Amino acid sequence: QVIDGGDQPLAGKKVVVTAGGTREAIDPVRFIGNRSSGKMGYAVAASLQQLGAEVTLISGPTRLEAPNHVSVISVTTTEELRDQVVQTFKSADGLVMAAAVADFKPAKVADHKIKKTTDNDHMVLELVKTADILKAVATVKQANQVTVGFAAETNDLLENANKKLQSKQLDLLIANDVSQPGVGFNGDTNQVTFLQPNQPPVKTPLMAKTAIADLIGEKVVELLTKKEG
Ligand code: CTP
Ligand code: CA
Repeated sequence: QVIDGGDQPLAGKKVVVTAGGTREAIDPVRFIGNRSSGKMGYAVAASLQQLGAEVTLISGPTRLEAPNHVSVISVTTTEELRDQVVQTFKSADGLVMAAAVADFKPAKVADHKIKKTTDNDHMVLELVKTADILKAVATVKQANQVTVGFAAETNDLLENANKKLQSKQLDLLIANDVSQPGVGFNGDTNQVTFLQPNQPPVKTPLMAKTAIADLIGEKVVELLTKKEG
């Protein structure tokens, strides 16, 4: 084991990271998904592991390789992600929710491939809301546990992100303005704003996602150290 406070300040700490996008089936061959690549979450998992944490990465489908020394749990749907997060969070010191979670899923999954042979040129897909995982976690969160969320916004970044910080009872929220070039989904770079309760927002420059992940790692160290008291 490694000694605390050195280059492995998270030694002995368990952190759960989620990454990638969830998918919701429409029929046996189709799904509703999103453009998340998983890169930001995988980079955070790698940074936390480097800092000495025991990292569990719960990942939606991505094209990425698991970071070294990180255990990966693969999930597809929001419900699977929620079940794994709720289970692993029980014994974790921290949770970083970088996953792009599908907010809605089809009300019914068709048993058979939906055919286009119909008289109608339109089709309506009825959707229902999925569970808000961070809100579920907020109801079981202990005083010494740290939770971190991301927010993807295209407008009114600070106002929208602050609402999420509060409603999900987060210690840290990393807000992305995904309407800006080079920011958020898919690319290798990101520019984010760090929001913490009762603190002024801190905006980073446009940086590699791996560099942002290192900043998030430092924040997690700071937050967990503060909670240890
Ligand atoms: N999140 C979650 N469960 C969901 C949706 C989102 O836990 N069903 C998490 C995301 O992983 C992220 C944070 O909540 O860490 C914010 O996600 P975002 O999509 O920006 O916000 P929403 O609360 O879903 O609100 P909206 O999409 O309407 O902006
Ligand atoms: Ca959402």
